[in-house]
Amino acid sequence: MSLATAFTELSGVEHPIALAPMGGSAGGALAGAVSRGGGLGMLGSGDGDPEWLAREVTLLDEARAGRPWGIGFLTWAVTGERVAQALELGPSAVMLSFGDPGPCAQLVRDAGALLMLQVTDLEEARRAVDLGADVIVAQGTEAGGHGAVRGRSTLPFVPAVVDLADPTPVLAAGGIADGRGVAAALALGAAGALLGTRFQATAESLVDPDTAAALVAASGQDTERSRVLDLARGSSWPAGYAARTLGHPFLDVWRGREDELADAAGDVRREYEEAVARGRIPALPQWAGEGVDLIGDLPSAAALVPALAAQAERTLERALGRAAGGGHPDTPEHPPATNHPDTPEHPPIANHPDTPRRHPATDT
Ligand SMILES: Cc1cc2nc3c(=O)[nH]c(=O)nc-3n(C[C@H](O)[C@H](O)[C@H](O)COP(=O)(O)O)c2cc1C
Repeated sequence: MSLATAFTELSGVEHPIALAPMGGSAGGALAGAVSRGGGLGMLGSGDGDPEWLAREVTLLDEARAGRPWGIGFLTWAVTGERVAQALELGPSAVMLSFGDPGPCAQLVRDAGALLMLQVTDLEEARRAVDLGADVIVAQGTEAGGHGAVRGRSTLPFVPAVVDLADPTPVLAAGGIADGRGVAAALALGAAGALLGTRFQATAESLVDPDTAAALVAASGQDTERSRVLDLARGSSWPAGYAARTLGHPFLDVWRGREDELADAAGDVRREYEEAVARGRIPALPQWAGEGVDLIGDLPSAAALVPALAAQAERTLERALGRAAGGGHPDTPEHPPATNHPDTPEHPPIANHPDTPRRHPATDT
């Protein structure tokens, strides 16, 4: 069985798996590793800073082994001029998220890159279809990082977008962190999955070591969606967006008091900066999705992509009762995580609910 889908056909990648263009994590090394592994690696360029892009594209080119790649922008933060500049670097796909993609969408289409639009509700999905998106990414609120305050859960949202957008291929995003999640996305009618948090915890991610260790140790229950950290640090994210992060002392102080926090923004920002300077809180919020339970190691992203695809295939075969042995896709004949990042046939992504968690992965 192969996991060829409308997305793999359209984008020219081997596996129906894309890297979320995560600001702060998805630099050239990570995007290149995902592409080399057979997924679609995408640079998280945020506002499209040309210096950052030039540096990271060099790293990406060294790592991607000639495979397709993309760039993601925060639509509310980027200008048409910067998107046009980035298109000159020759990405095969461009993803626009959070905000009105109208002004930039045509630039992407004119350049011949795949237009990928991330949506958080059905109205945005309809607009994405109208704008001629080649791929629509349906983001559920389980997602790590930012999303619409009034978002939707992945499980019911993805098939609703699939129905609305048909025949445009849809990628599911939000809470997908192992091959079972990729299989679930396909079962919902998506043409693949876009993963952020799982790839944030990899060897090639730009994330700092403390955050990587926190992701390995965390449970989805430790995550929370809130605007508090954006308000406290004086971030320019628009009011319609919240972010899912790991626990944080400022969340405990300001939860439910966002209006008061907005009024006291200057003072709280100074307090926040002082706490960062003293090392009492991390420099950036630790963005993480609900799927963080399933992360128990820091593998190479290049090995993780085929491992995810292989686990997804086994999951689907088992669900159809086709594979010998039945049961869970990671029971003995497909052993659970053996921790080595370069062994796709033993994917580093087990953590079945009935088996003990391994945090960190070396702790067997
Ligand atoms: C650390 C982090 C940073 C992110 N930054 C961006 C970003 O800059 N642009 C964007 O479109 N999405 C960003 N996202 C959201 C992803 O596009 C995606 O919706 C999300 O990661 C999917 O959920 P998951 O984290 O559970 O896999 C970010 C997510 C994380 C975890």
